[in-house]
Amino acid sequence: MNYRHAFHAGNYGDVFKHTLLVLLLRALQRKEKGFLYLDTHAGRGAYPLAAAPGPKGRAPEWPEGIGRLWAARGLPAPLADYVALVRAFNGRAGAGDRLRHYPGSPWLAALVRRPQDRLVFREQQPPEARALRRAFARERRVTVECGDGYAAPRALLPPLERRALVLIDPPFEAADEFDAILGALRAGLERLPAGVFAVWYPVTARARVARFFAGLHELRPPPALVAELAVTAAPEVRMKACGLLVLNPPWRFADELRPLLPVLAATLGVDAGAAARCEWLVPET
Ligand SMILES: C[S@@+](CC[C@H](N)C(=O)[O-])C[C@H]1O[C@@H](n2cnc3c(N)ncnc32)[C@H](O)[C@@H]1O
Repeated sequence: MNYRHAFHAGNYGDVFKHTLLVLLLRALQRKEKGFLYLDTHAGRGAYPLAAAPGPKGRAPEWPEGIGRLWAARGLPAPLADYVALVRAFNGRAGAGDRLRHYPGSPWLAALVRRPQDRLVFREQQPPEARALRRAFARERRVTVECGDGYAAPRALLPPLERRALVLIDPPFEAADEFDAILGALRAGLERLPAGVFAVWYPVTARARVARFFAGLHELRPPPALVAELAVTAAPEVRMKACGLLVLNPPWRFADELRPLLPVLAATLGVDAGAAARCEWLVPET
């Protein structure tokens, strides 16, 4: 496998995932006690957007993602928060007020983390992991590991802090990716039943997602929230929608998320097939 996230960096899937990620991090920070943020499939951390045309010269994806939000006015506070972080990242990278770089999940977490929060990034591809390690070489309480992210929950949980947010964001190139995710969730929940686990997934075949949710139910999961964003109904588009599954969502997260979804659908939608939804897969008791 030779997945290159650079081709997709800043697309609508990233915008959706990262908006919700920042919302989750902020929600966990309502408690003073620090926590571990574990990014099992971290990528290289930062992506130059000029270098982002897809394989075989396909058009870059970011103009229909972060490109649309960058120019949007009057966004709800959590979306404005996420865009402000992307702006801050571009400022740090010397781009001034222009959109030239896209921060991946490690950078977004690093930009919002407090001194008491700890970050661990795992990435399997050595060149990506090296880039990430270089970027965070001077940062305290940040660890970059080159290795299999699916093994990370077993190896690293429970953390000393006894609180964690785990993001599982694989490339979905392998046929058994959902099975690997279930294995990682099983190990993670055994070690930290109250941990917050977030899984991003593409909706390329609805039946695969349904099988994933059926497998999840076999784990006897804690409260589980699912949010999905569809941008199109066009048959020729492979990834028409994507979703984020959140186990043990923090208090108020669902209420904060709901009003954002129609805005994301309106801003990122391509045609009348654009829609967003949020529902409890396993309700809170
Ligand atoms: C979708 S990208 C991650 C993007 C990143 N989380 C972000 O939001 O910016 C998936 C990454 O997983 C890496 N990867 C693939 N298989 C892996 C594995 N088993 N363990 C850890 N990383 C893996 C790929 O090299 C790629 O960089």
